[in-house]
Amino acid sequence: MYDTKNGKGEDRVRIFRKKRWLLLPGLLVLGAALLLYARFVEPARLTVRTRTVQAEGLSRSLKVVFFTDTHFGRWYGVDRAARLVDAINARQPDVVLFGGDLLDNYARDRDSLDLEELAAQLGRIQAPGGKFAVWGNHDYGGGAVRVYESLLEQAGFQVLNDESLLEEWNVQVVGYDDVLMGWTDPELYQLNRDIFQLVVAHEPSVAEKISAPGECFVLSGHTHGGQASLPLLNRLWLPAGSGGMVRGDYTTQDGTQVYVSSGVGLTKLPLRFLCPPEIVCVTFEPAV
Ligand SMILES: [Fe+2]
Repeated sequence: MYDTKNGKGEDRVRIFRKKRWLLLPGLLVLGAALLLYARFVEPARLTVRTRTVQAEGLSRSLKVVFFTDTHFGRWYGVDRAARLVDAINARQPDVVLFGGDLLDNYARDRDSLDLEELAAQLGRIQAPGGKFAVWGNHDYGGGAVRVYESLLEQAGFQVLNDESLLEEWNVQVVGYDDVLMGWTDPELYQLNRDIFQLVVAHEPSVAEKISAPGECFVLSGHTHGGQASLPLLNRLWLPAGSGGMVRGDYTTQDGTQVYVSSGVGLTKLPLRFLCPPEIVCVTFEPAV
């Protein structure tokens, strides 16, 4: 209630009426500042997420760096690759995994993309245990399918297309084809070996298809964590293949652990908000 006896209440009302005209310009300035932040500051804030996972049967500690959804092109230039590669190498990984969507829109950007430079930069990634990649939906469209595998092979990556391999750490690395643009025989989601399974799949929904007798950890991307992270709207705009997962840690009904990365680059809009680009460093330790 206003204190009308001594006039203080009327003073406050008068001051508020005067100041409310400042509200609209204030909101516009705030909106412009947030937009500039989302356009120029946050997309450049490359962060490192770290996880330690106990893995049954591992012969020794295994450090993996996972990066995904670089979307090199109009909004995320090849000139940013050097810094990304330096950040990966700084973690001194044993193995590096790439989760797909290397280029944003090859048909649109092909004339301005320096693919030789991109291959040279990705070729600088150091990982004594190997560099592996899977296909994302953007790696198929607009002619990207013709350059994706050869570019990554030039950079020293092995592209896994529904393939698995056994590493010296006594872990099976499995890389699935993209579920939206590629095709996988459903039988290949039954992982039969009773050994720790490290799965890379572009879309998180793959995690729900997998059945494995041993422990299984899935690294995935595709959603960009919403990219502009607006809590309620994120769920409305989840892309096909997300399996209802946005970003971070999940466990499926079968007990499969999943990490969904918000990725590195930009797509559709050149904005990131409350969802900085990231690389993911997971250290798998032998369970005791
Ligand atoms: Fe993507």
